[in-house]
Amino acid sequence: MNSQELYKQKLISISEAVGKLQSHQSLGIAMAASEPQGLLSELSNHRERLEDISVWVSLPMGTYEFITNENMDGHFFIENWFYGSVDRKMHSQGRESYIPNNLHQAATRKLYATQGKVNVFFGTATPPDARGYMSLSLGLVIEKQLIKAADIVILEINENLPWTLGDTQVHISEVDFVVENHVPLLELPVVPPTDVEEKIGGYIASLIEDGSTLQLGIGGIPNAITPFLMDRKDLGIHTEMFTDGMVDLYNSGAITNRKKTLWNGKMVGAFALGTQKLYDFVNNNLCVEFQQGFVTNDPYVIGKNHRMISINTALQVDVFGQVCSQSIGHRHFSGTGGQLDTHRGAQLSEHGRGIIALRSTAKKGEISTLVPTLSSGAEVTITSQDIDTIITEYGIADLKGLCIRDRAKALISIAHPDFREQMKEEVMRLGIVPHF
Ligand code: COA
Repeated sequence: MNSQELYKQKLISISEAVGKLQSHQSLGIAMAASEPQGLLSELSNHRERLEDISVWVSLPMGTYEFITNENMDGHFFIENWFYGSVDRKMHSQGRESYIPNNLHQAATRKLYATQGKVNVFFGTATPPDARGYMSLSLGLVIEKQLIKAADIVILEINENLPWTLGDTQVHISEVDFVVENHVPLLELPVVPPTDVEEKIGGYIASLIEDGSTLQLGIGGIPNAITPFLMDRKDLGIHTEMFTDGMVDLYNSGAITNRKKTLWNGKMVGAFALGTQKLYDFVNNNLCVEFQQGFVTNDPYVIGKNHRMISINTALQVDVFGQVCSQSIGHRHFSGTGGQLDTHRGAQLSEHGRGIIALRSTAKKGEISTLVPTLSSGAEVTITSQDIDTIITEYGIADLKGLCIRDRAKALISIAHPDFREQMKEEVMRLGIVPHF
């Protein structure tokens, strides 16, 4: 049977596809912009039939009833290793819980946790080429590993998905069923940087030399830096997430990838999340290489890049240099994702640097994000042992190798002026630094 015939034989309706899932099974789902919108929208229609389904997700983008409807209790339980805005709201219903992990271990961790068992996998792919190969398109973090692991693999084919290159190809013979759903792609809009974010972007840029390889994380600040880098030469990209800002840097000529020590000439990443501009850019682009998350985010792989600079953001940093990027006190907010992977990888690199940049205040200036000690319940994303460089709109604190007294001094000097005295007094009162 040729590959076109095989495709036709495997093509079923979305409802039939969800019908393959049975009670008490676990369901793995492709993440972020590669999530299968049709299959996920259909899940809640099978509520009566399905009990105790464990759904494993990361950064869900759409709003789906199986997550949001409280009547799904007992039918679907969401295990999630990166919360988005919907998950934050749903957490309080008790049907969703966070999986602590590092991105490069995401699929393997889960496979261990389930004794190598993912019953069903729902993903997305482009339509097949003449030989029956499809591209997994925008997501390669965990998707290929789950395709190998799952008993039943179902892909939602969307002709709007870009054909991406690298390790993205899957053959129709490796898939059990396909459904078709040619919907517009999920986008993450670019929010223009604020004045404060621009100041931070300027400080970050001052640390980036020509020929550096960059990782840019998720959030407003990593995005704010790109306008400051337009005149740099021979920058490279080794990241987990491809972003719109990277397209601008490439188009300005700042990114050439020519000085990269690894995948020379190519931008490397595991998934793309942004606007249609980004999705058009990665389409059939020979200079954009998608590799699986366990490859892109292995700190030892990242560390092989020369002048590797990771740029991520956080919610709170204390004077020990502990970084919390994923919770606000006890309230879980997002996830570690690849922050620790990339931060550690950058420090293994020759002339590398791990940057955490954040606004000095939150809640319209009411609270300081730099604090004597992390809030009760705050989850530590980067430990004090791992910390390197912290940046706010008031400057740069190079913490590596400093004792706690000097870390406290450096962080107080880049805290918002309204909070500096108070922070100093509290640090002394707690005996962290008896006197300065
Ligand atoms: N205390 C209380 N609330 C705080 C706070 C603090 N110290 N710091 C920020 N907040 C609030 C903000 O006011 C904002 O609230 P709002 O939504 O009601 O306005 C909210 O938290 C989000 O803050 P913001 O700084 O706008 O978030 P962001 O979109 O820039 O994302 C992270 C920042 C840290 C949440 C995000 O980068 C993340 O999840 N990082 C971890 C994972 C990662 O970096 N992975 C690697 C790259 S993919």
